[in-house]
Amino acid sequence: MGEKARTEFRKLTPDDAEIVAELDFKCFGANDACNSKYFFKSAQDERKEFWVCEHDGKIIACAGAEINSDTAEIESLAVDPEYRRQGIATILLIKLINAIKKRGATFIILEVRPSNKAAIELYKGFGFQIVEREKDYYLDEDAWIMAREFLDGQDYFQTYDA
Ligand SMILES: CC(C)(COP(=O)(O)OP(=O)(O)OC[C@H]1O[C@@H](n2cnc3c(N)ncnc32)[C@H](O)[C@@H]1OP(=O)(O)O)[C@@H](O)C(=O)NCCC(=O)NCCS
Repeated sequence: MGEKARTEFRKLTPDDAEIVAELDFKCFGANDACNSKYFFKSAQDERKEFWVCEHDGKIIACAGAEINSDTAEIESLAVDPEYRRQGIATILLIKLINAIKKRGATFIILEVRPSNKAAIELYKGFGFQIVEREKDYYLDEDAWIMAREFLDGQDYFQTYDA
């Protein structure tokens, strides 16, 4: 019998930057992907909280946010196409949101392409609502701003807060 597959959720490190940039390119393409310099700097930036999912030693997902006092902005979320619809983004977002809440921010915002139904459904499942349209945010499309306030006592994510 083979060994059991290992899936781990952990913080992004500067050493992950190249591989996470490749993953981002695979998920977003040339126009929207962030480069390795961005991930290298994000891993060391005090204002940022970045997490990855590693499966059998391979990084298959990444999510990150920048926190400024009570507000956090989710800047990045990508799951390798081969591992989608298995709840990876859900767990990663739970980890990220719990970390954001621990750092004292309660209001979370993000931008999403209106054509990105998968992401919009995912965020709606977390209680995010569309609050605004930002014109020409992307090269070829407007953005929807989605937001949610996480108030004290809402322990919706306790189960995954290992
Ligand atoms: C959006 C994305 C992160 C979702 O990752 P994932 O690991 O497949 O998501 P999960 O398995 O945790 O899905 C959770 C829920 O999100 C919604 N969802 C996810 N993918 C969906 C799809 N293709 N169509 C419709 N709803 C979808 C569903 O409600 C799903 O719950 P269900 O599987 O019980 O129906 C992934 O598709 C991705 O990396 N896309 C490209 C990058 C991107 O768009 N990032 C977000 C930028 S704002």
